Amino acid sequence: MADIKSILSQMTLEEKASMCSGFDFWRLKSVPRLGVPQIMVSDGPHGLRKQDDQADHLGVNDSIKAVCFPAASATAASFDRDLLYKLGAAIGEECQAENVAVVLGPAINIKRSPLCGRNFEYFSEDPYLAGELGAEQVKGTQSKGIGTSVKHFATNNQENHRLSASSEVDCRTLREIYLPAFEKIVKDANPWTVMCSYNKVNGVYASENKELLTDILRSEWGFQGFVVSNWGAVNERVEALKAGLDLEMPYTSSDDLIVDAVKSGDLSEETLDQAVARILDIIFRREAEKELNATYDKEAHHKLAGEIEGECAVLLKNENVLPLSKESKIVFVGEFAKNPRFQGGGSSHINAFKTESALDALAARGIKVEYCQGFSAIADEVDPALEEEALAAVKDADAVVIFAGLPDSFESEGYDRKHLRLPECQNRLIQKLSQANPNAVIVLHNGSPIEMPWVDSVPAILEMYLGGQAVGSAAIDLLFGQKNPSGKLPETFPVKLSDTPSHLFFPGDGKTAFYGEGIFVGYRYYEKKEMPVLFPFGHGLSYSEFEYSSLSLSKGEISSDESVVASIEIKNIGKVSGKEVVQLYVSDKTGKTGSALRPLKELKGFSKLALDPGETKTATFQLDKRSFAFSDGKGGWRTPSGQYEILVGSSSRDIRASATLNLTEAKLPKFIVTPNTLVEELLAHPILKAEVEKLMFSQQKSVETDAASEAISAEMQLAMMMEAPIRSIAMFGDFTRAQLAGLIEHLNGLLEDKQ
Ligand code: BGC
Repeated sequence: MADIKSILSQMTLEEKASMCSGFDFWRLKSVPRLGVPQIMVSDGPHGLRKQDDQADHLGVNDSIKAVCFPAASATAASFDRDLLYKLGAAIGEECQAENVAVVLGPAINIKRSPLCGRNFEYFSEDPYLAGELGAEQVKGTQSKGIGTSVKHFATNNQENHRLSASSEVDCRTLREIYLPAFEKIVKDANPWTVMCSYNKVNGVYASENKELLTDILRSEWGFQGFVVSNWGAVNERVEALKAGLDLEMPYTSSDDLIVDAVKSGDLSEETLDQAVARILDIIFRREAEKELNATYDKEAHHKLAGEIEGECAVLLKNENVLPLSKESKIVFVGEFAKNPRFQGGGSSHINAFKTESALDALAARGIKVEYCQGFSAIADEVDPALEEEALAAVKDADAVVIFAGLPDSFESEGYDRKHLRLPECQNRLIQKLSQANPNAVIVLHNGSPIEMPWVDSVPAILEMYLGGQAVGSAAIDLLFGQKNPSGKLPETFPVKLSDTPSHLFFPGDGKTAFYGEGIFVGYRYYEKKEMPVLFPFGHGLSYSEFEYSSLSLSKGEISSDESVVASIEIKNIGKVSGKEVVQLYVSDKTGKTGSALRPLKELKGFSKLALDPGETKTATFQLDKRSFAFSDGKGGWRTPSGQYEILVGSSSRDIRASATLNLTEAKLPKFIVTPNTLVEELLAHPILKAEVEKLMFSQQKSVETDAASEAISAEMQLAMMMEAPIRSIAMFGDFTRAQLAGLIEHLNGLLEDKQ
């Protein structure tokens, strides 16, 4: 490994400043005289988008031929850590072969609204799921000696005004919803780089947000790599460097600003040195891991793309129609059967070296069906001739499979969706065909949820998401039962757009995006509101059935600095082999004063088990402090003492078993009694409770007597008193101000040595 200190000491100020921006669109600078080589980065994150010439970051110009794997919206539905590792490793192999040092992904922003145009690139509405899967993808890629760039840090949850708007998010929501996936990946997978987002976070551009880039990312989480700007995200060059942004991409003409700032004393040379050292460290790490003459097998990766997609597709509904029989008379309708939409538009767009449609896959397997186009996959226009042809074909068929989905123009990087509908021509065709043939199966190609006005008229729906270049083979294997569906929804499908939690606030006024729904994102909202949804978070059917039994906890009581293991037995009671994603949710039942408003349940564990018919396996989950904690809004975590329910199930709305855990908060937050402390706070405090009850007991008798005479029950009086500050009790009671001061001093004295 190169001696970075020595190289740094030999670099001129100008050379150091210039290392902190790109050489061109995709390459970093080199310093040949000091043996610093040039490295290249490229987009992903679901394949490799390496551009040779005519570079751009919007997916406009071509890139080299590569393999397009399923997008993150699909891979998240696998709920399969090993699969994401495998995917990351495959992308890493391609980077080695193409001499790319860092792949720009995974993108792990939370799906705050299904309208975000880029949701197809993101994993989930749930931070735990996004973090667990993102970490495995990073580990997989980096296991091949290739760096990753976890993006977009942070709160880039919409495309509308993404370059300038400020995401206005309270601290608790940031800590519980928008940061944990980044935190998990940084702490567990050591990504080589993190990419900051374009937007402002609470008024400060992410690219110059010291709290995010230095205080949280480095000081708190221990991030070791370099921070790169999203392409063109830097506002003030010197301020960005001071805040912790190391590399500006792509190239820029502003390196002299850094030189001037160091010369004038506005920027310390140590800050610059630190940034350069971080960049050099990654350059030489890459050099050390570079495999000369590396190659990869494109066909094998194509096959892998299909296998991965087979683990991702979600069977949303199935009323005895699927799997199909090869012997039946089946009609396929919809242009997506021939030209599938398998990826989204923008910087993640891959130049797939080949695609395999459902019709291709049928031909390869020797299965015969009739095909009608039905509609155009590009325009939202009814074509009466195509409709008539399809209607005539399905009349006497055993089943009709309609390949529907969103056209490219409906969802993309760069702008948000306007609504959640499919093109009208598709909705109309689905209604007509399902009336003509009761066995209508809908196969969907979309990057994010859609409304389904026809949901009750069709017996089966298979969600493929944007399934990568081999989506057709996965669809056919799943439809005909060669493969058993095992994906689960990583996001809620709402009944309608106006049901969504951020509906009143999204996308904001163009200047600010106010995250008014707070922590109640996705199922956290729908559960609390007891709202009907189209399909809940975690939902997904199988051709088999699974029985849950014997949930047990390794301990019934723990302190919050201990962990506990939950285990449950899962049996395949169906007739075919399959996989079940067992989900564990935690529910805070403490109901304590001082505890926060919390979601009804939060995902804190999942495990995907492969089971043959009749086979039983045990799913185990390790739960620690963070499984029970909520953010105190100041960077700390609270786990109030009391009862927590452990819920295990097959979806967020299909809980099959529950157990209760008693938890004691190991370290209480510092508490100081003041005249404004509430009576209920004193009574909820483990150290003060007994003393305050003793004091109150002597008062209680008089309360009861008064209550009888004034027809207000003692219970009512007590309830009113509970929420009163102690100064007001003193005001109405016989207490003097001096007595109140004495009481406060006495109680604080009790706390003194214990916290
Ligand atoms: C996108 C990033 C991408 C970068 C480079 C930006 O517009 O937001 O995700 O990595 O371009 O193409």
